Amino acid sequence: MTPRADTVVTVQMALRAAARRLADAGIATPALDAEVLLRHALGFGGDRAALFLRRPEPLPPAAADALARLLERRLAGEPVAYLTGTREFFGLPFAVGPGVLVPRPETELLVEWALGWLAARSPGPAATVLDVGTGSGAIALALGASLPPGRPHVIVGSDVSETALAVAAANRAALAGQGRAGEVALVRGDLAGWCRGPVDLLLANLPYLRPDQLAGNAELRLEPAEALVSGPDGLAAIRRLVADAPRLLPPGGAVGLEIDPAQADTVAALLGSHLPGATVRVRPDLAGLARHVTAELPAG
Ligand SMILES: C[S@@+](CC[C@H](N)C(=O)[O-])C[C@H]1O[C@@H](n2cnc3c(N)ncnc32)[C@H](O)[C@@H]1O
Repeated sequence: MTPRADTVVTVQMALRAAARRLADAGIATPALDAEVLLRHALGFGGDRAALFLRRPEPLPPAAADALARLLERRLAGEPVAYLTGTREFFGLPFAVGPGVLVPRPETELLVEWALGWLAARSPGPAATVLDVGTGSGAIALALGASLPPGRPHVIVGSDVSETALAVAAANRAALAGQGRAGEVALVRGDLAGWCRGPVDLLLANLPYLRPDQLAGNAELRLEPAEALVSGPDGLAAIRRLVADAPRLLPPGGAVGLEIDPAQADTVAALLGSHLPGATVRVRPDLAGLARHVTAELPAG
């Protein structure tokens, strides 16, 4: 029931009503989206406790107006992260906005694998790590912030999109301001063609969808198509990068790619044929879907 204009609307009532509207519109995570948008409207940012404590209180009119505008935009398909301007990735705040892919939780598993791979070759010489298609800088900056200080790995994030690189640079500056950024270089270029190598660890969450997968997905409509779609089968960019991997990787090097689950066998076979002798593994995400393929070359 919609509250009458003269009845007091509490924070809790507004939260319920917003979640109901989003659910009725078929949004996949209505309760979470409503909570994040209401917190943003109230100026609480990531402070969940503040919202919880204010639930019985009346919703200030300015916050009610702000929430109404945010809900309209969400219902029109804008990602929550574009509305709030930020998304947490690997425990770090990342600014995002139109023109840049919102980092996804499944990509955190690729960062975890990369950290494990780097730890396993310790002690050893510092590694050179390249994150191709860095977008907001999510993978490269999460690695930079997580690696133990004192081992001067070289970490580079690259992208073909100037918009993405500007956002990645802003994120690098913001993390550095909080003392949470390692040394990460950012480079503009098409895949890894600009890089002479060697690269010990090649990581990429490149576009991997087919055009029809984007066309049928309202949730992805406002994110940049060039960050999501790659050729008729979604594999154009991944195929080119894998073909370049033998030139870049030294003995003992490794590659980790994010994929669409349906591409697992094809990408595993591609890696196997371009990197003979490598140990190739398909790794599931938290939903059990094949999400990453890794290939590790034997040491020379
Ligand atoms: C799926 S997004 C991933 C962004 C980020 N790595 C993440 O995980 O959130 C793919 C990124 O690859 C970039 N990209 C697409 N084609 C590229 C190319 N040929 N060379 C370099 N980057 C490319 C896009 O601009 C976009 O930022």
